Amino acid sequence: MAQKITVAMGDGIGPEVMEATLAVFRAARVPLEYELVPMGRRVAEAGEPSGITTDARASVERTGILFKGPMETPKGGGYKSVNVTARKLWGTFANKRVYRKLRGVPLPIEIRGDLHLTMVRENIEDTYGAVEHMQTHDVAQCRRFITRPGSEQVHRYTFEMAARKGARRVTCAHKANIMKMTDGLFLQAFYDVAKDYPHLRADDVIVDALAMRLVLDPTEFDVIVLPNLQGDILTDLAAGLVGGLAYAPSANIGDGICIFEAVHGTAPDIVGRNLANPTALLLSGTMMLRHLGLERHAAAIESALERTLDKMHTRPDLGQPFPVFQTSRFVELMQEALAETPAIEGEPSKPLVPLRQDPKMLVTPTPERNHLLGVDVFLESGLAPRAVAELLAPLEDDGLKLTMISNRGTQVWPTGSAHTDCVNHYRARFESTRPVEQRALIALLGRVADVFPLCSSEWLREIGGMRGYSLAQGQG
Ligand code: NAI
Repeated sequence: MAQKITVAMGDGIGPEVMEATLAVFRAARVPLEYELVPMGRRVAEAGEPSGITTDARASVERTGILFKGPMETPKGGGYKSVNVTARKLWGTFANKRVYRKLRGVPLPIEIRGDLHLTMVRENIEDTYGAVEHMQTHDVAQCRRFITRPGSEQVHRYTFEMAARKGARRVTCAHKANIMKMTDGLFLQAFYDVAKDYPHLRADDVIVDALAMRLVLDPTEFDVIVLPNLQGDILTDLAAGLVGGLAYAPSANIGDGICIFEAVHGTAPDIVGRNLANPTALLLSGTMMLRHLGLERHAAAIESALERTLDKMHTRPDLGQPFPVFQTSRFVELMQEALAETPAIEGEPSKPLVPLRQDPKMLVTPTPERNHLLGVDVFLESGLAPRAVAELLAPLEDDGLKLTMISNRGTQVWPTGSAHTDCVNHYRARFESTRPVEQRALIALLGRVADVFPLCSSEWLREIGGMRGYSLAQGQG
């Protein structure tokens, strides 16, 4: 029986590009069977907010592979992104995106030399948890989680992949100069993992500088690993360099399940007009074929693709860029090109989906000297900083002293500037010089709640002898 994979057509141009891709797979006699499952907007609107039916979930967990078209996400409200849910639900911690110059594809900026750029975006953590709360009627908050085991997982995958592809250099992009705890942890995990790969050059770059350097000379880089949101933005920049989103494929890699999809979205502006370019999904498909051990089928399709794109983008008579991309013409040219290819041998290797009763726990050993030193209390007040401090000062006790008040991350008490504009959301820091009990902090929260509406709180910890919380801007 042929190897099965799960296929979801997606929304918008999804069915157009997926049908085109599967037609090319048929022309290349790819030895796979497809379990088609409903997933995306219609499922979400029919009352399953995840956008994934129970049957679709069971199919993916059985086959281990989801090949999907893009899915629509409403902005500013409505159901959550089905794409992000799928990546997180099935633990696909690394999003690999490959960038090459394709013959016949016009580039916005000339790239001199060969481009062999691979970017790996962490796929689970960061602001993509979308753990968001209104703190006051004026203040929204999104929590950003970066974890040591999650970072180690994506870095190890990146180094393994770089070693396999014969890369020389692996670069970690980050903003650890500003987000010293979160991006600092991502960066530290990178260099910890790098020690196991001494033959690969490991270095790092601040993400804004990376944006400029990619535009100036993307051939400088080999493999780049980034946190989720920064990776989202910078990988689209790289897609622009190689001709646009229509040429950017991606693979979401996990320990058991992998998801293959184009980087682009549902392209609502061109749905049903025969204008959708299937190249990105087709290249995601060839990444999937390689993952399944179908190297020769992947290579034959890529070779046919180069010949096809050459013809698509150039008027045969004038040698000028072809004015309009036509999906149907693309499929015909691909079928013609593949008809010239001799039959390809090869069977897929079955992906191993580990049988699990419970999620895998990713936990590293707890360091010694791990204790509480205080609490940051976030509270609502429209009073000026000095008035807030006067109301909070009597709530101190023997151990816990009010050491700082900040507004939007900038210290406004005991020192500050009258030019620091404030909103109705303060952070009051109560600190002790020696370890405190959790119940003392809870009692303090109760006392603050008698005076101000509480928005949230964060314990201040010392972990492994290190301060586990940041200073306010202007503090210390
Ligand atoms: P988009 O990628 O759908 O479109 C951006 C521009 O690129 C549009 O002008 C579109 O026509 C063009 N384009 C994209 N793919 C193309 C293709 N294959 N051929 C020709 N032109 C193409 O991004 P947008 O408009 O921001 O998002 C639309 C929807 O897609 C949103 O609901 C968004 O949440 C969703 N989306 C889904 C993704 C996924 O399923 N992985 C990824 C990105 C967005």
